[in-house]
Amino acid sequence: MNEKILLTGGRGMLGRTICRVLGNEFEIIPTDLPEVDITDTASLDSAVKKYVPQAVIHCAAMTAVDKCESEMALAYRLNADGSGNVARVCRANGVRLLAISTDYVFDGSSREPYSEYDMANGGNTVYGQSKFAGEEEIRKIYPENSLICRISWLYGFGGPSFVHTMLALADGSRPELKVVADQVGNPTSALAVAVKLGELLKHPEFSGTVHLTCEGEASWYDFAVEIFRQSKKDQVVIPCTTAEFPRPAPRPANSRLRKDKLREWNLPPMPQWQEALREFLDLESGN
Ligand SMILES: NC(=O)c1ccc[n+]([C@@H]2O[C@H](COP(=O)([O-])OP(=O)(O)OC[C@H]3O[C@@H](n4cnc5c(N)ncnc54)[C@H](OP(=O)(O)O)[C@@H]3O)[C@@H](O)[C@H]2O)c1
Repeated sequence: MNEKILLTGGRGMLGRTICRVLGNEFEIIPTDLPEVDITDTASLDSAVKKYVPQAVIHCAAMTAVDKCESEMALAYRLNADGSGNVARVCRANGVRLLAISTDYVFDGSSREPYSEYDMANGGNTVYGQSKFAGEEEIRKIYPENSLICRISWLYGFGGPSFVHTMLALADGSRPELKVVADQVGNPTSALAVAVKLGELLKHPEFSGTVHLTCEGEASWYDFAVEIFRQSKKDQVVIPCTTAEFPRPAPRPANSRLRKDKLREWNLPPMPQWQEALREFLDLESGN
């Protein structure tokens, strides 16, 4: 019989992609609002008692980075307290926890990619600070059987994501598109993250923090150019600066994450971002 894996936020972009990628190998139970609310410990606990999963993958979060700035209390309730609730329920029921976090826990000021050994500080946004507070809750409540999996620049089935936004904008109505070229990161396919989470589920000996972004790096400009190249869209892209696109939440200049833990644990590396993008575009377009 397949192992049962319960997802929080299971109808979100990553949750949907996990269901599709790991659905044959595991029995995936995608829970989401309204039936399982991570701010309501009783609803979480009764779901875990009902389904008796071997592990929980915690995807639920307030992910709208700019909205977190104006709704700070809600961001903390979901991303910090909610994660604490998930950790408590997993601990009480003896269930392993894989919790999804983000590059935003770093402030992006380093010139080098961030390792799992670098000290995070929550960065410069409410989103990053609330997610970091959630990480700290998990580390405090359930260090012995939890794994914090940081990802970044994510795209997955159905979006919303940068890939979906770029493809929608390239509808032939814009002679040129300005895209930020002074922020760098690791564009990351939710398919590749799901595959790696599937591998980690088979290794209960691993706990702590792990980075799961695709290999290779790009600016948003490079990413856009590659999206249009691979999808054969004839869209002109012009590089611009972050200062030209002010946002309520400041974006980190450096979002690159080093995958030291995957190497130490002798697990296969994440795929190169361009290959992962190709696989995603083929599947998303039904090719
Ligand atoms: N997307 C990215 O670029 C990115 C990058 C780095 C890290 N991450 C992390 O990856 C994880 C998954 O992200 P995603 O892109 O899949 O996000 P998403 O599409 O926004 O999915 C999050 C899901 O959580 C649900 N949710 C919200 N509040 C909840 C609550 N109180 N109880 C239960 N579920 C609740 C949401 O429902 P509603 O839609 O109804 O609110 C949604 O279905 C998050 O932890 C995020 O921080 C994402």
